Amino acid sequence: MSEENIFPKNFLWGGSTSANQIEGAWEEDGKGVSVADVQLFRNPQTISELNNVKGNTDTTEEMIQDALKSKNDKDYPKRHGIDFYHHYKEDIALFAEMGFKAYRFSIAWSRVFPNGDELYPNKKGLEFYKNVVRECQKYRIEPIITLSHYEIPLNLCTKYNGWLDRRTVGFFMNYVHAVIDELGDQVHYWLTFNEIDSILRHPFMTGGLIESRFTKEEFPNVLYQAMHHQLVASALATKYIHEKNPKSKVGCMTTKLTYYPYSSKPSDVLATKEKMRQVYAFADIQVFGEYPSYLLSKFKNENIEIKMSSDDLKVLKSNTVDFVSFSYYQTSCVASDESNLELTSGNTTIGVKNPYLPSSEWGWQIDPTGLRISLIDLYDRYRKPLMIVENGLGAKDTLNEDHSVHDDYRISYLKAHIKAMYEAIHDDGVELLGYTPWGPIDLLSNSTIQMSKRYGFIYVDLNDDGSGSYKRYKKDSFNWYKDVIKSNGSSILN
Ligand code: BG6
Repeated sequence: MSEENIFPKNFLWGGSTSANQIEGAWEEDGKGVSVADVQLFRNPQTISELNNVKGNTDTTEEMIQDALKSKNDKDYPKRHGIDFYHHYKEDIALFAEMGFKAYRFSIAWSRVFPNGDELYPNKKGLEFYKNVVRECQKYRIEPIITLSHYEIPLNLCTKYNGWLDRRTVGFFMNYVHAVIDELGDQVHYWLTFNEIDSILRHPFMTGGLIESRFTKEEFPNVLYQAMHHQLVASALATKYIHEKNPKSKVGCMTTKLTYYPYSSKPSDVLATKEKMRQVYAFADIQVFGEYPSYLLSKFKNENIEIKMSSDDLKVLKSNTVDFVSFSYYQTSCVASDESNLELTSGNTTIGVKNPYLPSSEWGWQIDPTGLRISLIDLYDRYRKPLMIVENGLGAKDTLNEDHSVHDDYRISYLKAHIKAMYEAIHDDGVELLGYTPWGPIDLLSNSTIQMSKRYGFIYVDLNDDGSGSYKRYKKDSFNWYKDVIKSNGSSILN
């Protein structure tokens, strides 16, 4: 088979980051405080601490007040990130050296609208992203921009209860107008909300909801109301992007949590089916433009009542997405009775451990075949082009004295996953637009805020305690990925 046939021509090889996990400069050039800047570093170490996703990400009213008083960035590492704000030229040059065709990054909403509810944008914030896009264009790297990746301005949470308040849709659209008016003619791929389904798992980061303000009984309704507002905002953003530049493609972004039945017991299979519907619910709405019947049944059975404006359903129906993007890291199992089964952590989830799979140091189960299964499932369900916008292995790396990092474990992980992509394209008929693995340069973990959980091809000299020079070093995987891109994927078959 010739090299060009391994992956489609113009396949978008690249990498993916989010503003809050890399930029730092949290108070510079007029940026406002976002939910990420008050996220406390708990430094989890044991498996049970690592498994406690909710505990690691939940933020109360008191914690916000403490954070706002604190000038200690070590407790709030997302304030310094990896200082991409001042290193972006160097970092994008390194991406270009690897041959990136695409770079997915997010815009920090609070850099453009510091409090979220201003009438006019912060020009310096927009200027920064214009520069980042220009830098990408210099190397013919296609920017793929996420409009919201766990970065809602804090003021919108404290003053308006985040996405629960309908006014947040309007504030978001002011932000979208400002960004699209500035960059809409130059950027061709947009994602509205990162892992929009994650509002159910970390309501503060995704939905700007301070859970301690609500009673346990009312909270499910709060969650789904906020979800509805985000979905309407996503549809309105899609409409605006298409109007401004009909050539632009807009994608939804979903967490592809793939679950297997723990056994062939019908009750385990049924429990898995139900779990998978929770995974698909959000993308179902963004792709088909309507609430699926299973979600409406859930609302009815659990007395969840969503307030909608008169044309919300029309807005959802008329503004569906062009492609489906997703993150994929791991799989786990589901059983109808999980009480005596071993559990393990995954991407902001906890699931039953699969006896057939190895795990990362963070307990995430490594499953390249699961990626192929996920691609088949998503393509069969949606019949839309797919894009894998996150994938990778979070691992501890050792920087040697000569500044080398021998990360063969990362190479094996990625190679097996790229091979699964290849099989899905060639054997299963899946249409795949691109692959932007997570954290091409080391960055702060979302779930645990650790720096020691590294995904990158590029090592950043920075530690969990905030010490380090911020210098960048190429790992072994750097040249390996460069070869993959140069050969349009054929090197993985060797
Ligand atoms: C995804 C998020 O869920 O997983 C990223 O979109 C995140 O923001 C990534 O960083 C990996 O998770 P973690 O917790 O290892 O950083």
